[in-house]
Amino acid sequence: MTHPRAGDARSYLFNDHTVEGYRRAVAAGSARVAGRVGRTDRPFSGAAPARLAPEIAAIDLERPLHDHAAALDELEGVYLRDAVYFHHPRYLAHLNCPVVIPALLGEVVLSAVNSSLDTWDQSAGGTLIERRLVEWTAGRIGFGPAADGVFTSGGTQSNLQALFLAREEARATGTPLSRLRVITSEAGHFSVRKAAALLGLGPEAVVAVETDAERRMRLDGLARELDRCRRAGLTVMAVAATAGTTDFGSIDPLPEIARLCAAAGVWLHVDAAYGCGLLVSRRRRHLLDGIERADSVTVDFHKSFFQPVSSSALLVRDGAALRHAAHHADYLNPLRMAERGIPNQVDKSLQTTRRFDALKLWLTLRVMGADAVGELFDQVVDLAAEAHAMLAADPRFEVVTRPPLSTLVFRYLPPEGPGRELADDANLYAREALAASGEAVVAGTTVDGRHHLKLTLLNPETTRDDIAYVLDLLAGHAQRHVDDLAPLAGHPEVTHVHS
Ligand SMILES: Cc1ncc(COP(=O)(O)O)c(C=O)c1O
Repeated sequence: MTHPRAGDARSYLFNDHTVEGYRRAVAAGSARVAGRVGRTDRPFSGAAPARLAPEIAAIDLERPLHDHAAALDELEGVYLRDAVYFHHPRYLAHLNCPVVIPALLGEVVLSAVNSSLDTWDQSAGGTLIERRLVEWTAGRIGFGPAADGVFTSGGTQSNLQALFLAREEARATGTPLSRLRVITSEAGHFSVRKAAALLGLGPEAVVAVETDAERRMRLDGLARELDRCRRAGLTVMAVAATAGTTDFGSIDPLPEIARLCAAAGVWLHVDAAYGCGLLVSRRRRHLLDGIERADSVTVDFHKSFFQPVSSSALLVRDGAALRHAAHHADYLNPLRMAERGIPNQVDKSLQTTRRFDALKLWLTLRVMGADAVGELFDQVVDLAAEAHAMLAADPRFEVVTRPPLSTLVFRYLPPEGPGRELADDANLYAREALAASGEAVVAGTTVDGRHHLKLTLLNPETTRDDIAYVLDLLAGHAQRHVDDLAPLAGHPEVTHVHS
């Protein structure tokens, strides 16, 4: 093992003696990334875990390289070369956006200054900047002056905190945990179930209402479940509606859901992790009408505001609800600080030490402005409409819904004949074969028990030609699989060849 002298170890600390080394290291890092991004001609190398795992395992963590350039060289081989590049126009898989440069500048600043947004004495202006952005986002939602919120690590955490606040409000009425219910739709995000489990609710606590043909929560289903719970003596602690479902981008009918929730006295949470980009759209803001009547809203800036991971927030219509997250520790946030009016965010957060992620959004708004972000989001929504028209006109595929946002769920349909039975397998195969080729990355999901493919369009640089190219590749892979297996179809042992 190498034992550096104390002087050597200190040379790695970032301080007034080492700013030159810092400049060089960060410049080398950004040059390396820029070089890699400048020459990536595909979103992925296609590397399999079996190839990368031994290379990463072979690195001896007990033998440091003592050199930034050498470490970057090594990193090229084990990470940069084979990373999945979301900035590439044929990365079409999950809700990962390409990122804007002002936000990357924010990353440089926030990681080096390393503020922690729990208390004023660890962040000073950072706390106020986050508060301004919370206020700004609440304003975009249409909340009134009582609104408040906090940045979080992502939609999962924002949803957890929303349901935690709702649970605490419901518990104040003395209802036991076992009688609490959360209503969401079949297309709601799985983090709602995870949150319910973490909050100690039973396995039946989350009730999934059916969706309509456009995959929006059905109002008659919601009304029925509200009524059923009431008659069974159960307390619906929250309805979790979705503004932008993960698979379909569908937006639940928010004004009507808000009306039903208000009539039943139920907390309305809107998961706008994906749909929040509409808050800055000049052409489609109306799709979120009704969101201002929610009690809490999840927004993921790292999905539709072109921000790097992590950047999310939970907003509440009445800031007083955040009191449920407040606990005081003598060493950190004693009550006397609050009484003296010294602002802190830890009293509103599930986290203690917390990154200054808000800075990325701040620099984004200060450099390019909200309209420019909204325009980028509008462009991908436009592109999805074009891609839908392409798919609908293409006899090789069937497409599930017309996208309100920027996802497309579809499947390759082998021509009539014995090959048709192999459609499920062929779609699964096509997705993996495409990823292994590295030419493009698409996602997959199941609809009504059948395997489908999914495009999530978040890159305004993606063109119709990119999409046409990827559809051809998918059809080619899928049909090849059918051709390979069709002669065997009908043999019982060949019903599920792909695994
Ligand atoms: C609708 C919705 N809500 C919540 C989440 C979870 O967000 P995160 O991955 O940031 O935790 C997602 C993720 O895709 C989502 O699509």
